Amino acid sequence: MHSSYAEVYKGWREDPEGFWMDQAASIDWFEAPHKAFDPDQGAYGRWFVGGVTNTCHNCVDRHVAAGRGDQAALIYDSPITGSKRSISYAELLAEIEAFASVLADKGVAKGDRVVIYMPMVPEAIVAMLACARLGAVHSVVFGGFAASELATRIDDSKAKLVVTASCGIEPGRIVAYKPLLDAAIEHSHHKPEAVIVLQRAQHHCELIEGRDFDYAELVGASMGRKIACTPVAATDPLYVLYTSGTTGQPKGVVRDTGGHMVALEWSMRSIYGLKPGEVFWAASDIGWVVGHSYIVYAPLLHGNTTIVFEGKPVGTPDAGTFWRVIAEHDVAVLFTAPTAFRAIRKEDPEGALVGKYDLSGFRALFLAGERADPDTIHWAERVLKVPVIDHWWQTETGWTIAGNPMGLGLLPIKYGSPAVAMPGYDVQVIDDAGHPVPAGTLGNVVVKLPLPPGCLPTLWNAEERFHNAYLAEFPGYYKTADAGFVDEDGYLFIMARTDDIINVAGHRLSTGGMEEAVSNHPDVAECAVIGIADSMKGQIPAGFIVVNSGVERSDEEIEKEVIKLVRDQIGPVAAFKTVMVVKRLPKTRSGKILRATMQKIADGESWKMPATIDDPGILDEIREVMTKHGIARKHD
Ligand code: COA
Ligand code: AMP
Repeated sequence: MHSSYAEVYKGWREDPEGFWMDQAASIDWFEAPHKAFDPDQGAYGRWFVGGVTNTCHNCVDRHVAAGRGDQAALIYDSPITGSKRSISYAELLAEIEAFASVLADKGVAKGDRVVIYMPMVPEAIVAMLACARLGAVHSVVFGGFAASELATRIDDSKAKLVVTASCGIEPGRIVAYKPLLDAAIEHSHHKPEAVIVLQRAQHHCELIEGRDFDYAELVGASMGRKIACTPVAATDPLYVLYTSGTTGQPKGVVRDTGGHMVALEWSMRSIYGLKPGEVFWAASDIGWVVGHSYIVYAPLLHGNTTIVFEGKPVGTPDAGTFWRVIAEHDVAVLFTAPTAFRAIRKEDPEGALVGKYDLSGFRALFLAGERADPDTIHWAERVLKVPVIDHWWQTETGWTIAGNPMGLGLLPIKYGSPAVAMPGYDVQVIDDAGHPVPAGTLGNVVVKLPLPPGCLPTLWNAEERFHNAYLAEFPGYYKTADAGFVDEDGYLFIMARTDDIINVAGHRLSTGGMEEAVSNHPDVAECAVIGIADSMKGQIPAGFIVVNSGVERSDEEIEKEVIKLVRDQIGPVAAFKTVMVVKRLPKTRSGKILRATMQKIADGESWKMPATIDDPGILDEIREVMTKHGIARKHD
C-alpha cells in the first residue's frame, strides 16, 4: 500500500501523541490541552485532558469571526413540505444565541440534559448547538420511535427540558409528535420541567399551560440577545445518543467535547476530502449518529455548508430527488446508507433520472450504516460515475473505524470491503479465546485500546455496563460486536454482528428489545425475533410466537395485535410486519433458542443440524410455517 494513507497511518502508529496534538491545532481552545492522551483517567484513558473549549464556538462563532458569516451554513431542502431555506453562518449564530438565551431563561445550564425530539428541520440543529453553547448535554431521539422508547430516554437522561415539534411528515401521513411526547412524559418517572414546541404549518398542537412553550414566540422575543459560549472541559460530555443494545434498555453512548471535535475535523479533510466552503450532504436523520456527526458537527466544524434534507430517496417526489439536491446545491460529497440506493435503483433501475441533472460538481458517494453489497456499489458507480466508498463505523465510535480516505488519495477499491483502518484504530481479528486469527479467517473484530479521540469514553450512568458490553470479553481490546476478517492486503471485511442487533434500512435495532415487546402480549407464551434478509432494507425482523395453551382466538388476530404492539412500543421504524404463530420454538437441550439456525433457514443459507438440538423435528415445522408465510428461501 504505497500512498499517503500508509504514511499517515505509520505516522500515527509511531507517535500517536504527536499525531493527535497536531490535529488538535485545527480546533480553537480557550485553554490548550497539556497532552493528547491521559491513560490514567476513565475506563481506558481520556483525550485532551486540561483542554477547555466549546463545540458551538468551533462550529459557528469562529467561522463568523473569520469572515465566513455570509456563507450558507445550513441549506434546508424539504421536498416533503415543498420548502427550502438557506441559513448563513451569521444567521445561524443569531438564532443559536436567541435559543440559548431562551434555554438559559428556563434554567438550563452546563451539564443539564435536554431531550430533542424533532424532525429534520433547521430548528433541531439550532437546538443542538444552543445546548452545546451552554455546555448542556443534548440527547436527540429519532422521530420514528414510539412513546415508550422516548420515555426510557427521558428517564435515563433525566432531561430538564424537552425541545420538540408539533409534527414530523412521512409520505402520506403527518406524525403528530406532541401526543407521543405527552404519553412519554406521563409514563416516565422523571418529569422534565418544560417543553418547547416548534409549531409547524402542517399541524398545530395544543400546549399545556405552564409546561409547554412556543418556540417561535420565545426565539422571536430573544432575537438580538447575546450569550457567550460556556467554557467546558475537553472531557465534558457534548451529547448522549441512545442506541440499541442487546436488551430493551438502550445504551446511552456518551460523546465528549474535545476528542470529538478533533476527530471529526480530521475526518472531513482526510476521509471525505472536503475543503472549507464546499457543500456536504449526509442524507440521514439527526436522530442517528450519522446525523450527529455528519449533518451537524463535522461539516460545521470544517466550515462547510451542510444540507438538512427532509424527504426520502424515493417518492418525494421521485427517485431523482437525490440528484436534484446534488445539482441544485452543488453538493461535492454525499453520504448515505446503501438501502437508500437500493430503493432508488428499484424505482429507476437504469438510473435514467440521473441524466436530468448537472452533477459535474459531485465528487464522491460514501456509504455506511450497513454492509455495502457489491451489487449496489457497482450500480451506483455506473450511474453516478464517481467513486463509491464504503466505510465502517458505529454509534459508539462516532466516526470511521475503517474506510478509504479520499482526502489522502484513494486506495484501490475492493468490493465488499470498507478498506483499511483509520489512524487511531488498531483493528484486529481474534478468535473467541482472544487469539489472533490468520488473514482470511473470520473472527471477532476488535480494536486495541485505547480507542481514538471521538469514541465513547463510557455509557451514560452505566460504567459497569460499558465495561461488560465492550471491554470485559477481550481484555485490552474494545469489542465491536462485528464479525469479519482481514485479507492479505490488510483490507477489512465486515460480515455480521455477533450479537442480536439487526440493521433495518440502515437503522440499528435490537431483536432482543423486540422480543421484550412481543412477550408483553398476554397470549404469548414465548417468542423469538430474528433478522431476515430483505432486498431493499438489508434486513427486516420476523417474529415467531408460541401462544399460551387454552387460547381460543385465531392466529391471525393475535399476529395482528403483536405487530401493533411492537409498533406502539418500539415504533414504526422497527418495520416489524411479519409474525408467525408456531407450535414450538427450536431449542438446544439447555433451552437456548436456535435463532441463528432459524435465520439461515429463512435466508436459504446452508445450515447444519445443531448437535445439541432438543428435537430436530421442530426445525421442519418452523420451515413449513416460514414457507407458508413466504419467507423461507430455497437452498440448493
Ligand atoms: N418519524 C416518524 N416515523 C418515521 C420516521 C420519522 N422520522 N422515519 C421513518 N418512519 C416510519 C415510516 O413512516 C415507516 O412507517 P410505515 O410502517 O407506516 O410505512 C417506518 O417508520 C419505516 O420507515 P423507513 O425505514 O423510512 O422505511 P420506508 O419503507 O418508509 O423507506 C427507505 C425505505 C429505504 C426509503 C428509507 O429507509 C430510507 O430513506 N433510508 C435511508 C437510510 C437512512 O437514512 N439511514 C440512516 C442511517 S445512515
Ligand atoms: P450504528 O451504530 O447504527 O452505526 O450501527 C453500527 C453497525 O452497523 C456496525 O456495528 C455494523 O454491524 C453495521 N455497519 C455500519 N457500517 C457498516 C459497513 N460499512 N459495513 C458493514 N457493516 C456496517
